[in-house]
Amino acid sequence: MNHNRLIFFDTTLRDGEQAPGFGMSLDEKLQVAAALVRLGVDVIEAGFPAASPGDFEAVRTIAERCADTTIAGLARCHEHDIARTAEALQNASRGRIHVFLATSPIHREHKLGLDREQVLARIRAGVGRARDLCDDVEFSAEDASRTEPEFLVEAVSAAIEAGATTINIPDTVGFALPAEFGRLFAMLRSEFGDAATFSAHCHDDLGLALANSLAAVANGARQVECTINGIGERAGNCALEEIAMAIRTRPLEFPVAVELDTTQLCSASRIVSSITGSTVQPNKAIVGANAFAHEAGIHQHGVLAHSTTYEIMRPEDVGAAGSSLVLGKHSGRHALRQRIETLGFTLDEDAFDRLFTEFKLLADRKKELHDADIEALALGRSISASGPWQLVSLQTTSGTNTRPTASVELMHPESGVRAEAAIGDGPIDAAFRAIARATEMHELRLTDYQVHSVTGGPDAQGRVTVDCACEDRSLRGHGVSTDTVEASALAILDTVNRFETLQPSRLTNGANR
Ligand code: KIV
Ligand code: ZN
Repeated sequence: MNHNRLIFFDTTLRDGEQAPGFGMSLDEKLQVAAALVRLGVDVIEAGFPAASPGDFEAVRTIAERCADTTIAGLARCHEHDIARTAEALQNASRGRIHVFLATSPIHREHKLGLDREQVLARIRAGVGRARDLCDDVEFSAEDASRTEPEFLVEAVSAAIEAGATTINIPDTVGFALPAEFGRLFAMLRSEFGDAATFSAHCHDDLGLALANSLAAVANGARQVECTINGIGERAGNCALEEIAMAIRTRPLEFPVAVELDTTQLCSASRIVSSITGSTVQPNKAIVGANAFAHEAGIHQHGVLAHSTTYEIMRPEDVGAAGSSLVLGKHSGRHALRQRIETLGFTLDEDAFDRLFTEFKLLADRKKELHDADIEALALGRSISASGPWQLVSLQTTSGTNTRPTASVELMHPESGVRAEAAIGDGPIDAAFRAIARATEMHELRLTDYQVHSVTGGPDAQGRVTVDCACEDRSLRGHGVSTDTVEASALAILDTVNRFETLQPSRLTNGANR
C-alpha cells in the first residue's frame, strides 16, 4: 500500500444508519456495502454488533461477503460489546474492532461518572481485550475535541500501549474550529509519531466537518471517517464525496493521495439517498443535481468556450456525466444482466427473472432506460422482494365529483389472492385502506409519505417512501414506478411485508373475500 494513501473509513452503515429516519434493512445495507466496495473505501464500519441482533447480522454478513475490504464493528469499552463484535467478525478476512470511550470532562462527569484514572483503566482493559481477539483495533476518544489536551495524550498513550493500531480523534459534537483541530493533530503526531495511524471523525453541527477533516489531514491524520451524502447523527458527518474531491482537486495542499474510484461517487450517493428516502439537496457539493449545472448565460458561454472557466472538476470524474441510453425494449437478458452487474447489483436467478419482467414492462412505458432507471428497478426489486405479499392489480378512480376509490388484488403464498376495495381522501389514501384491509393490518397508520423523481424526463420513475406504524412499531417501505399511485401502493405493501417478516404468524389462511 502507498504509505501516503489516505485511508477512507466509511461509517454510513453505523453513524449514518443510527441517525433517526436512516434505518436500513439487511438487504439495503448489503447494497450500500456493495457501492462502498465499488468506490474502493478501505474500511466499512458495518454496525454496532452489541446494539441489536440486526446490527450483529449486518456486520456478520457484510464481513463474510466483502472479503477485500476491512470490516469494522463498533464496541463500547465493555467485555460483552467487544466479545459480540469479535463474534460478528469471526469470518471476516479483514476485521477491525473499533472500541470507544468518552474522554472529555463533560462526558466523564455527566455520562460515565468516572474519574481520569478510571477512564484510563477502562481504555487499557477494553483495548487490551479487543487486541486479544483481533489484530486490528481502533480506539476512539469520544468527544476528544473537548478533552483537556494533556489528558487526551494520556488516553491515547494508554490505548497505544494496550495495542490500538488506529487512534481516532472525534469531534463528536461538531464543536471544533479548523485551525484548532489542525493544531490538535499536529500535537498528537509530534507526541506519538507513527506509533499508530491517526484518524479524524468530524460532525457537522457548525457546518465545519469538511474543513475540520481537511485541517486534520494537513496536520497528520492518515485516516478520515466519513459517510456518503454526509448522513449521520444530528447535522451528520463529513461527506465522503466532499473530502475525496477536495483533496483530489487540490493535491498540492495535502500530503496524501486519494485512491478511490471517484467515478462511483454519484452512484453511491443515489443508492444511499434512494434507500434512506432522504433526498440530496440540489446544490449539494459534488453529488447534488445542480453541482455541474450552469444556468446563467455568462457561465454557459464560459463553460462552452472552455469548461475550466466555471468547472473545477470534470463531471465524469465523479460519475455525474449523463448516463448511457443503450437499454430499451429490444434489449435482452444478457444486456440487462451485464448492466446490473456493472452497476454493482447481485441478484439471484429468481430476483433477476422478476426484474427482467419489470424491465420489459417499464421499457414499454419509457423509450430510453437510463442507468438511474435500472438502479431504481434493481433497488425496488432487492428491497421489496423479501416479503410475501405481491401486488397483482391496482385500480383507482378519482375526480372532482367522485369519491376516490381503490381496488387491489394481492397475492400471498399462504392465503392466495385477496381482493379489497376502499374509499379514501384521495387515490393514495384509498389504496392504503384497501391494502390494510386485504392484509388484515387493521391497525396500520401512514405516518410519513415522500415522493421523489429518481430519473429524469416526463416519464420519470417516482420513488415513494412511506413510514407506517402499527401498534408501537414504525417501519419504512419503498416503491418505484412511473405511476405515483402504483409506487405508493408498492411502498405500503413493502412496509406490510416488513411487518409480516417480523411477525410471520399473524395471518389467517383465508380465501378471497
Ligand atoms: O462521534 C463520535 O464520537 C463517534 C464515535 C463512536 C467514533 O461516532
Ligand atoms: Zn460520530
